[in-house]
Amino acid sequence: MGKNSVEHKDIHFDFNFMMKEHIGEDSGFSPEDINFYASDVGAIHEGLQKRREEGELPFFDLPYKDTGPVKKLASAVRENFEHFLLIGIGGSALGPIAIQQALHPPFYNFLEERKEKGLPAMYFLDNIDPDEIFYVLKLLDLSKTAIAVITKSGSTAETMATFLILKEALRKAGRIDPSQIIAITDPATGILRKIALQEGYNILEIPPGVGGRFSVLTPVGLFSAAVSGIDIDEILAGAASMDKRCTNPDIWQNPAYMKALLEYMFHIRQGRNIAIMMAYSEALGSLVEWFAQLWAESLGKKYGLDGNVVYNGQTPVKAIGATDQHSQLQLYMEGPHDKTITFLRVENFRTVISIPKDYEDLEGVYYLGGHTLNELIHAEQRATEIALAKAGRPNCRIDIPEITPYTLGQLFYMFEVQTAFAGSLYKVNAFDQPGVEESKKLTFGMMGRKGFEDKKREVEGVHINKEYII
Ligand code: PA5
Repeated sequence: MGKNSVEHKDIHFDFNFMMKEHIGEDSGFSPEDINFYASDVGAIHEGLQKRREEGELPFFDLPYKDTGPVKKLASAVRENFEHFLLIGIGGSALGPIAIQQALHPPFYNFLEERKEKGLPAMYFLDNIDPDEIFYVLKLLDLSKTAIAVITKSGSTAETMATFLILKEALRKAGRIDPSQIIAITDPATGILRKIALQEGYNILEIPPGVGGRFSVLTPVGLFSAAVSGIDIDEILAGAASMDKRCTNPDIWQNPAYMKALLEYMFHIRQGRNIAIMMAYSEALGSLVEWFAQLWAESLGKKYGLDGNVVYNGQTPVKAIGATDQHSQLQLYMEGPHDKTITFLRVENFRTVISIPKDYEDLEGVYYLGGHTLNELIHAEQRATEIALAKAGRPNCRIDIPEITPYTLGQLFYMFEVQTAFAGSLYKVNAFDQPGVEESKKLTFGMMGRKGFEDKKREVEGVHINKEYII
C-alpha cells in the first residue's frame, strides 16, 4: 500500500460523449448497443482469464513480481554514477521514457533538487540518428555513466549497433568497468545475454512470454525509474489496483473492457479507423507515444486468428492539448467522420500558477487575470470535448487525479488489458508483430549479414524510375 490517500486516488474513464444521448443517434451508442456484445464480452473475459491462469499471458501478473533485485542494482548505480544512459528501441524504450517524462519535472537533468538528492542525470537513446549519438557521447563523461542496454531478443540491430559504439567509446576512454553496464534481456536466450555473461555485466531479466510493448512493468521500465528515485512499488501497486478493476467480468465496471469495446464498435460499425489520444499535459506526451505503439503493433494485422486476410487496425495519433487545438482540432471538428478522441486530463498539476490581472481597459485579455493557468487548461479541455460532442464527434476522457507512480501504474495496466481485450474482439493475435520482419531482413541484406544475400540482391534489383524523381 502507498503512503498517503492522495496518491491512491483512482483514475476514471468517462465515455458520456460516446453515447447517443450526448452526440446523437447517428454518432453515438446506447447502453443496448453495448449490451448487444454481452456474450462476446463474457466469452473473451473467460478466454483471457484461462490463458492467464495457464501462464500464457504473463504480462497480467507483473504487478506482483519481486522488485528487490531491480531496487538493489538501481541503488548501486545511484551511488556510483553521475549519469545514466539507456539504450533500446520500441517496447524496450518507450515505457522507460514515458515513466521519466510523466514522473519527473520538466528539465529534470538541470534541476538542483536532483543533484541535491544525489540522483543521476538521465539520458535515453532510442534511435540510431548519428548526430544525436555523437552529441550524447560528447556530452557524457563515460567513466561516470552507467549504461543500461535493453533488448529482449538480444540482437536488435539499432540497439546492438549503439552498444558497439558505446563500448568502443568506453574502451577509448580507458578501462571498461563491467559493473557500469546493465544488460536487460531474455533470461535464457539471445546474443546480449551471451555477451553479458562472458564480459561480466550486470543482468536483469525480462520474464519469458512478456513481449516488448507489454514489458513496461518489468525491469525494462522499472530499472531506470528506480535509478532516478521513483517509487517503483507504487507503480506496481497502481497496476495491481487496476488489475482488480480489469478482472471484473461486468463491462459496466471494467474500464479496460469498456474502452476496448467502444473503440471496436466505432471502428467496425462506423468506420472510425483513427484513434486520437490527446493529453492535456506535457508530462503525458511520451505515455501517449507508448500507447500508440501498443495499439498499433498489437492490433495492426493482415491476418485474423482464422487465417483470413483482415487488414485490421485503428491508426493511433498523438495530440497534446492545448497546443493542438491550434493545429489539429479544426480537422477533428469538421474533417471526415473517421476518428475517436480520447482525452487525458490531469486534475491536479504539480504547480498552480496564477495569471496576473492587467489591462483593465482591454477585456480581450483582462478576463484572464485572477484565474490560474490550471483553470485555463481545464476550461480548454472541457470546452474542446463539448464542442466536439456538439459536432457529433465521439470523444471520451480519462480523468487522472494527479500524475503519481500509482496513477501511472493504473494507466499502463488499463491500456495493456484494453489492448489484449481488443485483440480478442478483433480476433487477431495482439502479441506478435510479423509485419516488421521483412524490413529487418532487407536491412540485414544491405548491411551484409551472412544468410541474407538474397535480400541484398532484392534491394539492388529495385528499379527506380527517374521520371518519378523531381
Ligand atoms: O513490442 C515489441 O515487441 C517491439 O516493439 C520490440 O520491443 C522492439 O522491436 C525491440 O525489440 P527488442 O527488445 O528485442 O530489442
